[in-house]
Amino acid sequence: PKRTTLAALRKMKAEGRKITMVTTYDYPSAVLADRAGLPLVLVGDSVGMVVQGHDSTLPVTVDEMVYHTRMVARGAGRAMVIADLPFMAYANMEEGLRNAHRLMAEGGAQAIKMEGGAEMAPLVRRLTDNGIPVMAHIGLRPQSQHQMGLRVQARDEAGIKALMADARAHEAAGAFGLLLECIPAEVAQEVTRRFSPVTIGIGAGSGCDGQVQVWHDLLGVYGTKPFKHAKCYADVGSVTQAALEAYRHEVETGSFPAEANTTHVDPAVVTSQG
Ligand code: KIV
Ligand code: NA
Repeated sequence: PKRTTLAALRKMKAEGRKITMVTTYDYPSAVLADRAGLPLVLVGDSVGMVVQGHDSTLPVTVDEMVYHTRMVARGAGRAMVIADLPFMAYANMEEGLRNAHRLMAEGGAQAIKMEGGAEMAPLVRRLTDNGIPVMAHIGLRPQSQHQMGLRVQARDEAGIKALMADARAHEAAGAFGLLLECIPAEVAQEVTRRFSPVTIGIGAGSGCDGQVQVWHDLLGVYGTKPFKHAKCYADVGSVTQAALEAYRHEVETGSFPAEANTTHVDPAVVTSQG
């Protein structure tokens, strides 16, 4: 099969077929997501937290996003690769254009995602006018956490009205997708019904066109009690730790490497040498 296209995503929305996305940050994760048949992978700036160990996404740079996107692009042959514009990489039009270009031309992404409400719609327009598919990330926006906090958005009338205005502005600006983070299910469902871009939710209920999860949450890399909005489908953290402990034990007790892992020559040939 060929790579996921925007047309294919629109068709999935029209036909009510759900769209699955996961974050990936390197070659092996992209290969596995691709093999599992996921149509979309996101190189999220969550890399700053789950891979780099920062306590927010704010320190992530464009150079780092390009680096991770390149690794993902080499592994994803069928999934569309969407890459995040990181914090302050689109503070003005020219920077936004230049950095989106880098994610695509140097990174190999097929689309970009950027956080922001209606105020960012002019940049969405500019990018889409230049052939760059844009997914606009609204609702909870981690890059703006020092302004809006990290809580569920669009809970009251004013908040819902503002979110609808954001979605409408991005639709008008040509965004192909809306990432809906941490908003009530009823609001996400109405955005999905009312507007043409495909909606991908995280903490936004089951009424979205698709869902996204962060790799490390989905796989239980740091434990199996992720956030309310997350579900753990494996216990990779425990499996990995048990494997490493078994390895250490075998090295310390001398049972690894075993004969099967070992190559020999005639010992006399070795001892006869200088
Ligand atoms: O960076 C990221 O992983 C994201 C998803 C949580 C939507 O933006
Ligand atoms: Na992100």
